[in-house]
Amino acid sequence: MTDSPTRLEIAQPDDWHVHLRDGDMLAGVVDATARQFARAIVMPNLAPPVTTIAAGKAYRDRIMAALSDELDFTPLMTAYLTDGADADEIIGGFDQGVFSACKLYPANATTNSSHGVTDIANISGVLAAMEKAGMPLLVHGEVTDPEIDIFDREAVFIDRVMSGIARDFPGLKVVFEHITTSDAADFVMSAGPNVAATITPHHLAFSRNAIFKGGIRPHYYCLPIAKRETHRLALRKAATSGSPKFFLGTDSAPHDVTRKISECGCAGLYNAPFAIESYAQTFDEENALDKLEGFASLNGPAFYGLPVNTARMVLERRPSDVPQTFAAGPHTLVPFLAGEQTSWTFAGLQPA
Ligand code: NCD
Ligand code: ZN
Repeated sequence: MTDSPTRLEIAQPDDWHVHLRDGDMLAGVVDATARQFARAIVMPNLAPPVTTIAAGKAYRDRIMAALSDELDFTPLMTAYLTDGADADEIIGGFDQGVFSACKLYPANATTNSSHGVTDIANISGVLAAMEKAGMPLLVHGEVTDPEIDIFDREAVFIDRVMSGIARDFPGLKVVFEHITTSDAADFVMSAGPNVAATITPHHLAFSRNAIFKGGIRPHYYCLPIAKRETHRLALRKAATSGSPKFFLGTDSAPHDVTRKISECGCAGLYNAPFAIESYAQTFDEENALDKLEGFASLNGPAFYGLPVNTARMVLERRPSDVPQTFAAGPHTLVPFLAGEQTSWTFAGLQPA
């Protein structure tokens, strides 16, 4: 692009990966997502995780109850796969419109994943049924082998697990979630059209150096952990490439500040309040604002077989101040970009 627009209008985006939590936290964060995004794929890593149709429905009801009346938002629920996952329950939930996808957490890979899958062989029957039904598998792509360096866990996962899934279930729709490496971007690019990836705003914005800049910075710690700069550049290239295989997933993952700043701080960034602004800034810096709508609003619905949102989102090139903190009930959240200015501002929605 040669011109430099000051206003942008795109179909309203969706967030294809978000943690809305539960209880006080849910009530405090759901509007931030629903203000920008028409739909969101809601992660099931509650304690206990969402594994049944009844739990999926009940969680969806709690989300709708927590949402402000004036916001129009559709949560798309996911089922958390365990070693004991039951194909009938999973596919039944998909057929009834309760579950939009299944989430695969390798056991103990990240926050609330202790019930995750210990060996893919344990869920092969479920994956075969999902392949047949057209139900997407969303993968947290990190090995949990403590011998493997934390910065190599995604790349090793491709060799040890992801390639096997793609080989054994060639028709399965797979989303490689929140990718952080050029290895993952290359894997997705060279796989079939049924394999896609989400990319977060933060993995586009900073490399692992940010975690250690002048000291240890817990608000930059998330999983998968940010990698070296060459990987960040590869992610920026993939996101802005125009390929339909890459789409928006914030992985907004709020934790109370006391759980972030601790001797053993939680992984996760809270980026929902300024998510689209952050993506717009990246696309602008890459001279690829013309690719933002595809990434944010078109590629995800095409992959999931859903209609594009009819409302339009207006973005303006003017700064917004990101607060130092947000309150979520009794919780204090330090957002991504706290205290900074965004170069773009979400200026509202135009109804269809
Ligand atoms: C997520 C969380 O806190 O639930 N944390 C994170 O760093 N992204 C879990 C996850 O998506 O890995
Ligand atoms: Zn996540």
